[in-house]
Amino acid sequence: MNDFSDIAIGELTRGQAESELARLAELIAFHDNLYHGKDDPEISDGEYDLLRRRNQSIEEIFPALIRKDSPSTSIGALAASGFKKINHRKPMLSLDNAFSANDVHDFAERVKRFLNLNVVDKLELLAEPKIDGLSASLRYENGLFVQGLTRGDGKTGEDITENLKTIKQIPNHLKGVAWPEVLEVRGEVYMGREDFKLLNERQIEADKQPFANPRNAAAGSLRQLDSTITKSRPLKFFAYSWGESSEKLGSSQIGVIEKFRKWGFTTNEMILVSNSVDEIIAHYQMISDKRAALSYDIDGVVYKVNRLDYQERLGMVARAPRWAIAHKFPAEKARTFLNDVDYQVGRTGAITPVARLEPITVGGVVVSNATLHNADEIERLGIRLGDEVVIQRAGDVIPQIVEVAKSEQGNELIVFPKTCPSCGSQLVREEDEVVWRCSGGLICPAQRVERLRHFVSRNAFDIDGLGKKQIEFFFNEKMINSPADIFKLQERDKKEPLTALKNRDGWGDLSVSNLWEAINDKRKIEMDRFLFSLGIRHLGQQNARLMCLNYLIIDNFIENILAATDKESDAYNNLLSIDGIGEKVADTIVDFFAEQQNLTVVKDLLQQIEVSEFTPPDTGNSNIAGKIVVFTGKLEKLSRQEAKASAENLGAKVSSSVSSKTDILVAGPGAGSKLKKAQELGINILTEDEWLNLR
Ligand code: IVH
Repeated sequence: MNDFSDIAIGELTRGQAESELARLAELIAFHDNLYHGKDDPEISDGEYDLLRRRNQSIEEIFPALIRKDSPSTSIGALAASGFKKINHRKPMLSLDNAFSANDVHDFAERVKRFLNLNVVDKLELLAEPKIDGLSASLRYENGLFVQGLTRGDGKTGEDITENLKTIKQIPNHLKGVAWPEVLEVRGEVYMGREDFKLLNERQIEADKQPFANPRNAAAGSLRQLDSTITKSRPLKFFAYSWGESSEKLGSSQIGVIEKFRKWGFTTNEMILVSNSVDEIIAHYQMISDKRAALSYDIDGVVYKVNRLDYQERLGMVARAPRWAIAHKFPAEKARTFLNDVDYQVGRTGAITPVARLEPITVGGVVVSNATLHNADEIERLGIRLGDEVVIQRAGDVIPQIVEVAKSEQGNELIVFPKTCPSCGSQLVREEDEVVWRCSGGLICPAQRVERLRHFVSRNAFDIDGLGKKQIEFFFNEKMINSPADIFKLQERDKKEPLTALKNRDGWGDLSVSNLWEAINDKRKIEMDRFLFSLGIRHLGQQNARLMCLNYLIIDNFIENILAATDKESDAYNNLLSIDGIGEKVADTIVDFFAEQQNLTVVKDLLQQIEVSEFTPPDTGNSNIAGKIVVFTGKLEKLSRQEAKASAENLGAKVSSSVSSKTDILVAGPGAGSKLKKAQELGINILTEDEWLNLR
């Protein structure tokens, strides 16, 4: 067989690509067999990974050449990258949390307000346990289970079809009748408590590490590349949600759950639908009372708006639906001792005190660190080294110290430092802020490292293989100073063969070439990720998106932000007129780019990468995509919030002030100065009804 393994993927001809895919299929199958069949691999995990990646990249460029026996459709031998990554057709969302009955009442009121219902109107909610496992999305085509994905980051999951097929409660064929041709059922994979205990006994007998809790055991079992191992693990599945469906599934959440039951899924028994928030909370109490006696772990109760038309109108914010919330159980508490306090410097200079504790197990997880939040908190606690402290841990929230149980009076009180532990600069605190920040800015090494870490993190550039350890290494070796350096690393490495990375401790040929591949993979990036990655204060994911919607092209954004340094300018007023961007946010963004050093960092970076033009959300043939809309006066049918959200979903930009750029003013009763200005400017003015019809 011809071997084109030396040819870069981008340079392969079609014929060569075909040969390469054949060669790789055979080679990967050979190594799979050594690894699984004989338990005697010949190559390292890294080398194996590289083969699979090359195969996958070629398949991405030449999808027509994907072989029937393609290694990417079978489960190979390497975790993490061994599973094929696949985009979810509909994102898999997470949930916002409520911690008290009050929060739940607030939630119901928020929903009503958004839907423009009256406070006295009834709103049906469904309540069910929040299962402590891992969510999965199961795709059925013509009733047949064809693909199962993990949640991943919500946008992209990993293909674990073969493993999910081993779970008895996941039907291979849908039962009953009238299921849609395409249906994605979503729910939780989990392990029962009894099964977890038995598995751990088996692990210990076999001299293997036991799992910390059922959730970890379920995760470890699902992520097996060898599905025969998964099959030997007693996993279960509750269905509670769905993704793509070729037909409307019904009009209520509970109706769909009943259908799932008929189609062969297990759904939870403890479901209540009620239009009384008090009843819903009583149900929470009932579940909480039963919690200890249940055969599986739960960590709260989820409430969902029952009507599906309401769910659709409510939509989502950031990554969570507006129509659901998780009411978490109170945190678990434990006592331990304070050994030390460290002060961490964040990327914006914020100093966070971290308590180092005598390790202790809380709710099945070993805790050895807890946050002390800030200087005020340390003062409130009056804490000393050696103190016995009460800590609490709620779900995935960072553990915290609640109180001092027994004070070690002989020791000094802990005092918050006056200077930065990294660069020695003075700490400063803005008026009305609790956080002390290092004033060292660009000279502070800790801030610089944190900014770099943020830059490569999951929601930013998401560069595989560049974690905390590697960033610190490159920074300390003076190989990476600013983001652009990441993209110059490979060139630089070529020029310095003596100190080449592959010859350094902890690195090898393969890990180095994997790193180059992961970096080069990100030379083209979406604009919202790019802006978020810069780590500008107040420019989080949501505001980054707002910037994209309004400026669309990175050069356009920078040009306008630079022009906005002049507060009298149109550019500054335009920025402020974006609904959701106030003065504080606008000023921080403008100030960031006005700082010459920051601008240089950004420009250097732009020399290395390409930022793609922002594509506004899929707006179908909406008439209002790209239009600038202002709402004023009282709206009767829609709440302000829904009006704004639905306009944005259709690709419009919602502005808070009228100018010559405004395309549409939607004016309700009581409209005043904005209406007048719009009339003067000859802007298209619509009533709420006209607006609703236009959509
Ligand atoms: S509904 C769009 N229902 O909780 C709504 N989630 O914190 C999506 N979870 O990722 C989730 N039990 O893994 C829903 N009864 C339940 C749940 C549940 C557990 C998990 C799920 C989700 C996470 C969000």
